Amino acid sequence: MILVFGSINLDLVARVPKIARPGETVLAPGYDRFFGGKGANQAVAAARALAPDAPAIAFCGAVGDDAFGADCIANLAGEGIDVSRIEAVSAGTGCAFITVEHAGENAITVASGANRQIRADGLDDAFLAAVDVAVLQMEVPWEENAALAARARAAGAHVLLNFAPARLDIPIEKLRGFLEEIDTLVVNEHEAETLALGLGLGGGDSGRLLAEDLSLTVIVTLGAEGTRLVQAGQPDWHSPARKVEVVDTTGAGDTFVGVLATGLFEGLPVRRAIERAGLAASLSCTKAGAQAGAPTRAAVDTASLA
Ligand code: RIB
Ligand code: NA
Repeated sequence: MILVFGSINLDLVARVPKIARPGETVLAPGYDRFFGGKGANQAVAAARALAPDAPAIAFCGAVGDDAFGADCIANLAGEGIDVSRIEAVSAGTGCAFITVEHAGENAITVASGANRQIRADGLDDAFLAAVDVAVLQMEVPWEENAALAARARAAGAHVLLNFAPARLDIPIEKLRGFLEEIDTLVVNEHEAETLALGLGLGGGDSGRLLAEDLSLTVIVTLGAEGTRLVQAGQPDWHSPARKVEVVDTTGAGDTFVGVLATGLFEGLPVRRAIERAGLAASLSCTKAGAQAGAPTRAAVDTASLA
């Protein structure tokens, strides 16, 4: 089973000619409401990428006791995800305020709300023993992530961390302890740099520094440039991105992580899993919204032949 432990948000998205700079106001004709949150987006991408006869995916997280929360749970359930470990707590459901430029670039502010109340100790040992791949991101308290990573690892799971959004608020020894429980790390270039900085690793190639220092598999997503695989003691490997007509890059990284998790779950070699995840991420950019563009398994298979 795949477990996604993470955030659930409602995304309020305005398309603007240019993202506002500090002190500036820009006008948008209106806004759209989408389901989002990095954890939820990754779970949806994974659910769509799994073989239809193996919809083995569960989510652990928290929403608020408001209308948004109920909608978010119904949305995940509608994708075939086991939502029985999502708690409704007394707080507002997480909300992301997103502006998307016509070029497809975005800027995001997340009001975490209920996501701050996610609990790793709500999961019992018998459940964790059934987890093959645990997927984490950084929109929930890092202490809970660290606790979950340690327990899932001890129970035999492969632990996949997407260090997004990049954060520098973790004491260095705790950060190191957390990362020791990770098998595969997915970061973009900015996140790689931030993490290397947070660990006190010198300047230079952050992806390489992380892979060698932590001896784990580091996957660096490069947007339109594709993906880099960096493993300790081995030369870099690069997978190019498929060229697509970009409408909205929001959630492309999440699609990558979710589909990568299914590849690891299915036992694909990591390079093959990266190629499939990269293709899915490219396809996801052709539609507006963080989840709408996450392709089905069939769509990825069809595109991979083209
Ligand atoms: O990665 C994209 C996601 O980041 C959005 O869905 C938004 O909710 C923010 O969490
Ligand atoms: Na999209």
